[in-house]
Formats: sequence, C-alpha cells, structure tokens
Amino acid sequence: RLTVHADPSGLHAVTRTLKGAGRRIALVPTMGALHDGHRELIRHARLAKGASVTVVSIFVNPLQFGAGEDLERYPRPLEADLEICREEGVELVFTPGVEDMYPAGADTTVAPGALGSVMEGAVRPGHFAGVLTVVSKLFHVVAPDVAYFGEKDYQQLVLVRKMARDLDFPLDVVGVPTVREDDGVALSSRNAYLSDADRPRAAALQEALRAGASVSAHGPDAVLEAAGAVLAREPALVLDYLELRDPDLRPDVQQGKARLLVAARLGTTRLIDNITIQLP
Ligand code: PAJ
Repeated sequence: RLTVHADPSGLHAVTRTLKGAGRRIALVPTMGALHDGHRELIRHARLAKGASVTVVSIFVNPLQFGAGEDLERYPRPLEADLEICREEGVELVFTPGVEDMYPAGADTTVAPGALGSVMEGAVRPGHFAGVLTVVSKLFHVVAPDVAYFGEKDYQQLVLVRKMARDLDFPLDVVGVPTVREDDGVALSSRNAYLSDADRPRAAALQEALRAGASVSAHGPDAVLEAAGAVLAREPALVLDYLELRDPDLRPDVQQGKARLLVAARLGTTRLIDNITIQLP
C-alpha cells in the first residue's frame, strides 16, 4: 500500500490525480529518524476529516543547517522510517535527494519576516529561510489540503502558518501538541546525542516551563522568574533564551493567552521546548 517517490514531478502527478478524483491530501513534512512525535503527526493526518491520503516527506534539508551544525551526522535510518510509515498506514512517502530539491543553480529562497531572526532565528541565522524555502517547495510538489507541524518547534509552526497566509498557499496548517518521554523531555531525534550524564538534565527545560506555568496567575514577571530559577539550578545547562510571547509570538505579552519558550545547550546538543501560559 505504501509507495515511495523520490522524483518531485512524479509525486506531483500522483497527488494531482488523487485530488482530481476528490481525495484530500494531508502532508507531514519530516527530516526522518522518525519517533513517536512524528507518529503523532501522522496519526492526526490519518484521522483528518474526509477520505484523505497521507503523504510523509523525508528530507534532511541542507538549507536549514548552519555551518558547524549536525547536517553530516544527522541520522538517516530510511528503512526503519519506511517501516514506521507502513505501520501507521501512510500511503505515499516522498524521499527526494538533495539534487532533486536543489538542482544546480537553484538559489531562490523564501525570506521570513522579522519573526525569522529572533529566538531560534537569532541563534541559527538563515535557519528559518531554509525551513520556509523547503516547506514552500513541499507545498508546491505535494499540493496538500492540510499540513501538520509539531508544537515542539513552535516558532517554526507559527512561521509556516504565517507563510501560508502571506504567500497564499491554499491549505490549513495544523499544530500538534508535543509528545514527551516519561520524564517530560520532548522527543527529538537530537536527544540521541545527549551523554548519559546529560540526559536526565534535559528534564530541567520542561520543569522550568511548568514552574513558570504554575505561577501564571501572578503575571508575566513571575512566570519568567520562576522558570529562570529552575534553569539556574542546573549548571550544565547553557541558556540561549527564555521568552514569554503571545501565541503568534509577538513580544511583551501582558495578559491572556501566551507562550513560554526556552532553548538551552547541554554539551554540544541544543534543546528547545515551550508551553502554553494563561495570564490573568
Ligand atoms: P523534524 O525535526 O523531522 O520534525 C518534523 C515534524 O515533527 C515537525 O513539525 C516537528 O515539530 C514535529 N515534531 C518533532 N518532535 C516532536 C514531538 N516530540 N512532538 C510533536 N511533534 C514533534 O521540523 C523539521 O523536521 C523540519 O524543519 C521540516 C519542517 C521537515 C522542514 O525541513
């Protein structure tokens, strides 16, 4: 039942035909090394309304990796990934090569607005231009009616939703809640890089966010102070940022719904996490 396509125009022909026959197309973009977080996205896609066909893309996108990041060592267990897709009832998998997505001379990119250069974008210059470029290409190749993104990468989710709106992509962008380990650590392909000593320390991110959420009735300063205190207790953790923003990531949120976001390094591994906050 599962069909694998490496060629963009081949897959595009298939999804066009399916759409012509009245099927809805649901897309789950990934970089592979699939885990239970990705499975959750696939399950949401499979349960979406209407007789939809689920497409999972697996592509380690070089454009979103900075110099000195983990592009070369990023895990690529293709056979295991295809097995997970089969288990989850995925119909189509898109596995392009770098030359399929970026033929020689391709140098047009999507520029994120101001939100692309704060938080993750400040630490990883060019990262979100790389993400939005590949996601817009995936949207064109697959032509989905709906696409699923994890709240774990909250800034990515907001930027993709904004791009779809700003650039008139005719699809819904759906966010899926973060899947966690038993100790609260968000599942990530990069957790495998953590040393045995650092792995338990990773739980401090989620503990900090929960400490912040637990005092949300006292306002934004109390939230940041409580979360910051928990992070400060873990000396191995090098903080990149801890920020409280509104759900669309506008700064200086004072009341109502908000999002608390954190990024930190443990050794050479970067970890990110976020939580919803309800201010008075
Ligand atoms: P990747 O890191 O493989 O993640 C693919 C999708 O899975 C993203 O939407 C991400 O937010 C989601 N995800 C990862 N871990 C999760 C977790 N623990 N719980 C819920 N969702 C989780 O994000 C990317 O790839 C790339 O930037 C991509 C969008 C594919 C563009 O290259």
